[in-house]
Amino acid sequence: MKKLMIGMTLSVAIAVVMTVAGCADKGAATGKPVGDLAAGKTIAERDCKGCHGVDGKGLAPGIPNLANQRQGYLMASLMEYKDGKRNHAALKELATRMSEADMQNVSGYFASLPAVPNSVAVDVKHSSPYEQGKVLAEACAKCHGEDGNSKAAGTPSLAGQQPHYLVAAIQEYHQGERKATMMKSMLRDSDKLEIEHLALYFSAQTPTKRGASARGDAAAGEPLTAMCSGCHGARGVSADSHTPSLAGQDAQYLAGAVKAYRKTRQNWGMQRYVAGLSDQDIDHIVAYYASQDPQPAGSVATSTQELADKCNRCHDTEDATASKAPKMRGQDKDYLVMALRAYRDDKRESSTMHRMSVAYSNAMIESLAAWYASQPAK
Ligand code: HEC
Ligand code: HEC
Ligand code: HEC
Ligand code: HEC
Repeated sequence: MKKLMIGMTLSVAIAVVMTVAGCADKGAATGKPVGDLAAGKTIAERDCKGCHGVDGKGLAPGIPNLANQRQGYLMASLMEYKDGKRNHAALKELATRMSEADMQNVSGYFASLPAVPNSVAVDVKHSSPYEQGKVLAEACAKCHGEDGNSKAAGTPSLAGQQPHYLVAAIQEYHQGERKATMMKSMLRDSDKLEIEHLALYFSAQTPTKRGASARGDAAAGEPLTAMCSGCHGARGVSADSHTPSLAGQDAQYLAGAVKAYRKTRQNWGMQRYVAGLSDQDIDHIVAYYASQDPQPAGSVATSTQELADKCNRCHDTEDATASKAPKMRGQDKDYLVMALRAYRDDKRESSTMHRMSVAYSNAMIESLAAWYASQPAK
């Protein structure tokens, strides 16, 4: 179950297709704060200062900065707390006590304040999950090859492999469910985020064919794969992120893996399919898959900037009429992480943001949040 959860959250921006058409929604038509700002300040001093400061800077990690935020967005948020669409006990109570004019005034007040200067150094080096995966993967190159294309017989290539499958496989070694002493000691220290980084990196590499099998006959193997292709894809190129591709994989490794399902490797689905195969059938099947052309599982955004470009379409627009999306540059990092997880896990309503973030792993969320928090607010 835990495995499944991580699998599901593995973000893989692999083709995170940002299909969301537009953020346009004609809302507050002007960029300038409106309302009685002095009355707003009085409310802020009385009711908000303890957490958001009078200068609109969140006083603790996890409390958002409000200074210089779009007024329309602040207003809408307060309404959502009031209506229970967003949950926060203190804010619900405060918002319930406020008239619409109060909300307008206090929102206008915070919106009119200068942006909070950055607390995070701007020159912090932010590497994306992909870049971090690339660094971690250096430890694997000795056996799995440069870019995950192994040259050692018996050692699988990881390049282009399906990312959820890679995460699951690494965890199986980790937890001793899959036996391979060297892999276990290799991966002992990697945490969940690192595993996601590695999977993201390897899945995006271009796989090369490992070479023909010394045993078995590909032509005889092909008809036997009819029952495999429903899951592993036509010619062994899987289209499902949880199911490994077999095309072009090392023959010796494939043969060993099929046999392992008959003995030590636990996967009820696979055991059922390979239980009835003779050793000769296995050789033929392996010869067939080893001779097929591999394909990469997907492409990923390789830098955080590249990811953020997609968000900035809505979040970074100067056009106040065009966006209901809040400004995020210089926002508190912990708050951003919390907010993104809440959308992804369906704890905060917003169909736009939910659609956007379902595909995001914790790794991706962390790096996006760190990136925005480090940007000078404007
Ligand atoms: C007890 C501490 C506390 C007080 C007092 C408080 N807030 Fe907040 N505020 C928070 C926290 C924590 C959040 C983030 C909650 C969440 O995750 O939705 C928040 C979120 C907000 C948001 C949403 C911001 C965003 O970026 O989505 C607005 C708007 C807001 N507060 C306005 C106010 C106003 C106006 C007052 C005073 C009337 C106030 N708050 C008083 C702690 C507080
Ligand atoms: C000393 C050599 C060696 C090193 C270093 C190594 N591996 Fe492996 N790896 C292997 C071998 C051999 C196997 C096949 C084991 C088996 O049969 O289960 C394997 C299997 C795997 C698999 C399963 C692939 C599949 O198709 O099921 C994954 C995933 C993997 N390694 C990831 C990694 C990562 C990530 C690193 C670096 C952090 C790494 N390995 C470092 C030798 C190595
Ligand atoms: C019902 C779907 C399904 C069918 C049918 C199926 N597989 Fe699999 N196969 C999987 C899944 C899922 C995995 C990954 C399981 C795991 O994590 O160990 C897998 C793993 C494998 C592996 C290990 C790959 C690696 O990189 O370690 C091999 C080899 C394999 N299957 C061969 C076959 C062959 C040959 C057939 C047909 C005789 C077949 N499979 C039929 C779903 C299927
Ligand atoms: C199509 C427009 C659009 C795109 C693209 C978009 N967002 Fe949003 N985002 C919104 C809107 C609208 C809201 C306000 C929703 C609400 O009221 O909860 C929002 C809210 C948020 C919030 C909550 C901020 C706060 O102060 O509470 C975060 C965090 C966020 N988005 C992050 C992102 C990230 C990261 C991306 C890129 C992966 C992204 N968004 C892409 C429209 C968009």
